[in-house]
Amino acid sequence: MALKLKLHVLRGLVICGLFAWLRTAYGNSPSESGGEGSSGMVSGASPTEFLDKLLEGYDGRIRPYFKGPPVNVTINIFINSFGAIAETTMDYKLNIFLRQQWSDRRLKFSMWNESLSLDPSLLSKIWVPDLFFANEKGANFHQVTTQNRLLRVSPEGYILYSLRLTLTLSCPMQLQRFPMDYQMCKMELESFGYTTKDLMFTWAANDSVQLSDDVELPQFVIDGIKTTTCTKVYSTGSYTCIQATFNLARQMGYYLIQTYIPSLLYVILSWVSFWINMEAAPARVGLGITTVLTMTAQSSGTTSSLPKVSYVKAIDIWMAVCLLFVFSALLEFAAVNFLSRMDKEIQRKKQRKNRRPVKDEDGRKEHRFSPFAAFTMHRGGPHENHAADVDLQQRRNSKVGLKQDGSPAVAILQPNPAQAERDKAKEEINKTRFHNYAKKVDYISRTAFPITFLVFNMVYWLIYLVILQKPYA
Ligand SMILES: *[C@@H]1O[C@H](CO)[C@@H](O)[C@H](O)[C@H]1NC(C)=O
Ligand SMILES: *[C@@H]1O[C@H](CO)[C@@H](O)[C@H](O)[C@H]1NC(C)=O
Ligand SMILES: *[C@@H]1O[C@H](CO)[C@@H](O)[C@H](O)[C@H]1NC(C)=O
Repeated sequence: MALKLKLHVLRGLVICGLFAWLRTAYGNSPSESGGEGSSGMVSGASPTEFLDKLLEGYDGRIRPYFKGPPVNVTINIFINSFGAIAETTMDYKLNIFLRQQWSDRRLKFSMWNESLSLDPSLLSKIWVPDLFFANEKGANFHQVTTQNRLLRVSPEGYILYSLRLTLTLSCPMQLQRFPMDYQMCKMELESFGYTTKDLMFTWAANDSVQLSDDVELPQFVIDGIKTTTCTKVYSTGSYTCIQATFNLARQMGYYLIQTYIPSLLYVILSWVSFWINMEAAPARVGLGITTVLTMTAQSSGTTSSLPKVSYVKAIDIWMAVCLLFVFSALLEFAAVNFLSRMDKEIQRKKQRKNRRPVKDEDGRKEHRFSPFAAFTMHRGGPHENHAADVDLQQRRNSKVGLKQDGSPAVAILQPNPAQAERDKAKEEINKTRFHNYAKKVDYISRTAFPITFLVFNMVYWLIYLVILQKPYA
């Protein structure tokens, strides 16, 4: 009985002791952690208490290391989409994740040994760098479904702040070599209010600018991204600034298909005129006018999507030369046509000069001797009159019998037959002299035009594709 009681008491004591030991063990653990912690280090029973304690005494208006060394903010960006590079407005659009990392010792904690992802609403309570894009034209945050922001705090007090932005950034473009041009579009990240004594931006050592695999530009190829610093000095002080430069090489495939090849074909089409008979004026004029008008329409179509810059672009040179070629082909026909008509013109003038002295007499005679006149008279005239007329004719014929061989007046006027022979031969040559010139012009044009155009092409493409180098090394 006594032994049983002793055993009971012993069991009770053991349980009591165990309970007491457990209690002390449990009660001691927070005080141990608390003793370790400095001002910023907190740990608590519940996450709410933890956050409240984390921000206890925290003043978001004061930067970390106040009055101390500058805060170093490491930045890297991830590009979701890149595009809408507009020549007319000289800007481009980007959709990025902007990630900033800095250290704020006030937010150190030791309750957990891992980084904590916190609600972005906390951002309004803590200090964040006052970054802005110096060459921004417009930007917006994304709020679907919630604000696209991220806040992560590591136990060492490192803060990662990421947000998603769509930016329209200005990009001054040099279009002298358009469409074989290269553009360097910048993105400048600058501090608005903190001078270099308070805030420094640096690009992340690795992958400072990451590009999504999906990024595909319709007209450009991203030929590299360069990251540099661009500290700005204003009258209010010097401000930290970092910049990323996107080297863009335009792909001229679109312009080759839409502009260069069609205009090349129009120029070739205008040469068809040189093979068409020079007497076919409607065909050759039609061809010339059509090609000139088509070229004009083509060149105005390509320049409509470009800003009204005052300098000459590479495409302008091409268009102007093509138009010049097409126009020259039309002018060539005008010259050929004029030359081919020159012979007839000269002949007509000569004939008029030669005929003038005998014209009156000859004309009258021809009328008198015309069988038609005789016929009408024979049919319509009274019989007595007809008889008298026939008599008159007979009398005249007997009087000037020479004049029945067709060219009586000329023969009479020219006294020397040898001279006449020579003149006739000369006239025969003169009759086709200008016509032959015209033919020669057409013949020369058939080779001169294509060769000149070929030389122009060689020079043009050599200069723009080989000699002129990329503006960025
Ligand atoms: C930031 O970097 C500069 C130069 O590297 C250094 O002098 C400064 O101490 C750094 N600031 C902090 C808060 O570590
Ligand atoms: C973090 O704490 C867990 C246990 O809570 C431990 O297993 C892990 O090794 C710790 N990690 C580090 C990096 O200390
Ligand atoms: C950064 O690059 C170096 C060398 O390429 C590499 O050893 C290191 O792991 C990289 N760091 C990160 C965070 O990717």
